[in-house]
Amino acid sequence: MKTKLLLVLTFIVFTACSESPVETKTSTTIIDTKIDSIQAAKKIVEVVNAKIHKEESIAIEVSAPSGANLYTQKCASCHGKDGKKSALNASEVIAGWESSKTQGILKGYQDGTYGKKMKNIMQGQTKPLSKTDIKLISDYISIL
Ligand code: HEC
Repeated sequence: MKTKLLLVLTFIVFTACSESPVETKTSTTIIDTKIDSIQAAKKIVEVVNAKIHKEESIAIEVSAPSGANLYTQKCASCHGKDGKKSALNASEVIAGWESSKTQGILKGYQDGTYGKKMKNIMQGQTKPLSKTDIKLISDYISIL
C-alpha cells in the first residue's frame, strides 16, 4: 500500500515536472509570436508614416512654390523680390495687390486693353503666361 502511494506520488511529481517545461516553452513561444507581431506592426506604422511624410513633402513641393517660383523667375528682377519696387521706376508697387486686380491687369497687358507708358515691356512679359500662371503669380503677389 505504501509503495503504491509512493508510486502515485512519484507519478504526480513526474508529470508535474515534465509538464511545466512544456508549458513554459508554449508561453515563451506565444510571447515570442506576440513580440514578433508587435515589431511587425511597428514596422508597418513606420513605413506608413514615412510614406505619408513623403507624400506631404511632395504635395508641398508641387503646389506651394509654383506661384513663388514663377514670380521669382519672371517678375522679381524688375518688381523686386518682395514686390515692393517700382519696376524701372515706371510701375506702381504691386506687393499685396488683390489677386483678381492683378489677374485683370495682366490679362489686360496680354490683350492690349491695359497699359501705360511702358506697356510694351509688360506685354512682352505677360505673353508667354498661361491662365494658370497668371492666377498662381497673382495669388502670390497678394501675399507679398
Ligand atoms: C523687365 C522688367 C519687368 C518685368 C520682368 C516684369 N515687369 Fe511688370 N511692369 C514693368 C513696367 C515697366 C511696368 C509699367 C508698365 C506700364 O507702363 O504700363 C510694369 C507693370 C506691371 C503691373 C501693373 C502696375 C501698374 O503700375 O499699373 C503689374 C501688375 C505687373 N507689372 C506685374 C508683373 C508680373 C506679374 C511680372 C512677371 C510675370 C512682371 N510684371 C514682370 C516691368 C517689368
